[in-house]
Amino acid sequence: MVEPRPELLAMPGYTPGRSVATVERELGVQGVIKLASNESLWGTSPAVIKAAEESLHRLNVYPEVIAGDLVAELADRAGLADEAILVGNGADELLRLLAIAYVRPGDTVLYPHPSFAAYPDAARLMGGIPLAVPTHPQGYVDLEAMADRMDASTRLIYLCNPNNPTGGIFTQSAWTRFLERVGEQAVIVVDQAYREFVDDPAYAGVEDAIRQGLPVAMVRTFSKLYGLAGARVGWLAATPPTVSLLHRVREPFSVNQVALAAAQAALADTAYFDRVRRETISLRTWLSAELKARGFPVLASSQANFVTFDCRRDAIEFTRRLELQGVIIRPGTSFGLATHCRVTVAPRPVLVRFLKVLEVVGREP
Ligand SMILES: Cc1ncc(COP(=O)(O)O)c(C=O)c1O
Repeated sequence: MVEPRPELLAMPGYTPGRSVATVERELGVQGVIKLASNESLWGTSPAVIKAAEESLHRLNVYPEVIAGDLVAELADRAGLADEAILVGNGADELLRLLAIAYVRPGDTVLYPHPSFAAYPDAARLMGGIPLAVPTHPQGYVDLEAMADRMDASTRLIYLCNPNNPTGGIFTQSAWTRFLERVGEQAVIVVDQAYREFVDDPAYAGVEDAIRQGLPVAMVRTFSKLYGLAGARVGWLAATPPTVSLLHRVREPFSVNQVALAAAQAALADTAYFDRVRRETISLRTWLSAELKARGFPVLASSQANFVTFDCRRDAIEFTRRLELQGVIIRPGTSFGLATHCRVTVAPRPVLVRFLKVLEVVGREP
């Protein structure tokens, strides 16, 4: 037998949120709603669907390798050159490309814990050594602790802002201090999958650091606010030499035609997505208060499109009981939060249904 690379055996693999189809089939319940993967329950906009449908007439040709118009629009918004932008097959592809480009066997890679599971796997894939740094108890990535953990072997640092699943943010002043402390020895990847939902003015933008030529990469996605999780499209900003390096390692046609058309139309439909953003932010506050009122403490003041709360018992058992009532949320167990659950902010009638089910399950012995 041909043995696979040993580092792959140490990769646990991704634990996805349970799908509606799986829960309906396994538990025999109908009309299930899923609030487990921070997808948009507002859906994407009609203009985006129209653009995606029109792109179907061009399926016989390859997509653009460098999605010129989309890149130009993203560059303009970020205040960066077109050469500083790379579009990818979801943020996932871009997070992994950065490890492929920079991590050598034996290098250490710092990542926050609890946080998004892709970071340690990307490090392991390249034979790197992932080192977890505890997230601050208030739910944000602790940059002081990250800088304390750094040493000569550190090659890459993943940060998540707002952090998934805790929802907190690190601030501009913390970011400035962090950059001063870490210097230019390691590549700093800032995953901003939930940035569109931030309303705290203290939030740290990282575009300035990229403009200054520092080894910083900002990773974004169309999966959350723009409702395009199924299309698989994300983007990255970094210095032009880094982007040029990533072009060498990526598959040239990793982002398909339909996803590119959808993403471009999404950026143009500001009225629709501004409304979704405003509603999400206001419902996030409302949901957090409703959870607290029912005796479920909320982990942090969330700046994302989800809220994580203490269910005060085993999270897997708790979420299974909710599934029997037709609502899927995410147990914190795979994030190391055994008695917490994460729920996606959705339109108000959906959250009302979730809260009703929560009350029923909360009363069960
Ligand atoms: C923090 C974080 N980064 C990245 C992703 C993946 O984004 P994409 O769908 O663009 O691959 C997610 C998805 O849940 C996420 O929570």
